Parts: sequence; structure tokens; C-alpha cells
Amino acid sequence: MGFAVCVGNASLASMELRWVRRSKCDDAPRSIPIFISTLKKDVNLEELRHLYSRCDHSCNRLAKNGNGIVDMKKLRTAISHSDVVVSVFCKPHHTVLVEDDEQESLSSKQNKDESSLGDMFQDVLPLAPSNGQLVGFGRAYSDYGLTASIHDLMVLPSLQRMGIGKLIVNRITRLLTSRDIYDIAALCFEHERPFFKACGFADDRMGSTTMMFTKSLEA
Ligand SMILES: CC(C)(COP(=O)(O)OP(=O)(O)OC[C@H]1O[C@@H](n2cnc3c(N)ncnc32)[C@H](O)[C@@H]1OP(=O)(O)O)[C@@H](O)C(=O)NCCC(=O)NCCS
Repeated sequence: MGFAVCVGNASLASMELRWVRRSKCDDAPRSIPIFISTLKKDVNLEELRHLYSRCDHSCNRLAKNGNGIVDMKKLRTAISHSDVVVSVFCKPHHTVLVEDDEQESLSSKQNKDESSLGDMFQDVLPLAPSNGQLVGFGRAYSDYGLTASIHDLMVLPSLQRMGIGKLIVNRITRLLTSRDIYDIAALCFEHERPFFKACGFADDRMGSTTMMFTKSLEA
């Protein structure tokens, strides 16, 4: 179980610094700072494309060229028309798992010493989108009046189960409900349901389910 400590206080702030902890490392809890931004200007499309690929997630589920291909033009349009975007950054050296560090061979010790110096330097710099790595993302679009839906939620695999995904969803839902939009849907796979349940989602009490348009473009 991960948890987060808020060091900012405005729940709807467009930028916020928090700490999250990996509880799996019981002997040496590893807390890392993360930076949450809801500003579209902080979305770097190349970094986002990289995150899609690291998370094995597709923003274009119906892409003819295969799931891994990101159409940057469509992605740019989608982001610019999204109602809410939430990006999470952390320092690049914090994205490496503790276990990975331990498995490094002795022959790489020199490199490790050098990178430790680099890490120390990185540690004293304040975390910001400009020096951070995009490690989490989520977006929602809405009609600005009644309904909204959440898309492209993802967290870098090495930082999953630290509470980052839940922070992103909470941020999205808080922004939407602050505008009196409560009809919020999340299109997800069966294995993602426990996560969305943990974020306060459930089966629609009106009994609706999702149906998808199936006619191909060629038809
Ligand atoms: C789904 C995803 C965004 C969750 O992000 P995350 O940061 O790991 O999630 P959190 O740490 O905030 O999890 C919060 C709670 O959700 C539940 N949960 C999260 N992942 C789960 C999993 N794989 N199985 C069961 N429950 C899970 C747990 O209750 C968890 O709390 P706990 O860790 O204290 O037990 C992440 O797994 C991911 O990026 N997956 C790949 C892309 C994807 O499938 N996106 C969803 C489609 S929109």
C-alpha cells in the first residue's frame, strides 16, 4: 500500500508537490517527491509517447498499425481538447527500483559512484516539470455541464502501487466535481476494476453499460 503526504494545501492548485512511499520496501521505506501539474503547457508529447510505451498502454485503441503506435497529431489534438489533464513528475533517478540497484554488478560500481554524485546534485534541485521525468498521466474530457470521462490513466511500472494513480484520479474528479460534474465514467479493462473501485468508482447505479461502435472505417 502506498500513501502520499501533501506539502501544498490548495486541493485544486494547478501545481503541487507531494511525497509518495513504496511500502513494499519495508526495511528501507523509499519516499520520493512527486510534482503534480494540471497545466497543459507541462505536457511534453514526446515524453507522453514514451510513457504510453513504458506502460504498454495505447491512446488509440483502434489504431490500424497496432496498439503501440501513437499518432502524434491526434494526440496533440486530444490533449488540447481535454478538459482536465494531470501530469506527475519525479526526479529521473527515483524511477529506478531499489531492487534494480541491488542487482547491479560490482563492475558497474564506478559508474554507480559517478551517478550517485549526479543523484546528490539532482536531490538538491527543486523538483519541477522542467527537470523531472513524466511518470504518471491522466486526462478527462467533459461537456463542461453534465458528464465527463477519464482516459489514458497510467503510471510508470516501477512506481506503481505507490498511490500515484489514485492521486491522479482524485485530482481529476475533484476538478470535475468542483464544477458540479458528477456523472464521471472510466472506460477500463476487467483487471483495472480494483484500481477504479479503490478510487471510488463502481457499477453504474442506473444499470448502464458501455457499447462500442464496431463498424470499421472501410465498410
Ligand atoms: C492502473 C494504474 C494507473 C494504477 O496506478 P497505481 O499508481 O499503481 O495505483 P495506486 O497505487 O494509486 O493504487 C491505488 C489502489 O488501487 C488498487 N490497485 C491498484 N492497482 C491494482 C492492481 N493491479 N490490482 C489490484 N488492485 C489494484 C489498490 O487497492 C491500490 O491501493 P493499495 O496499493 O494500497 O492496495 C497503473 O497500474 C497503470 O498505469 N496501469 C497500466 C495502464 C492502465 O491499465 N491504465 C488504466 C486504463 S485507463
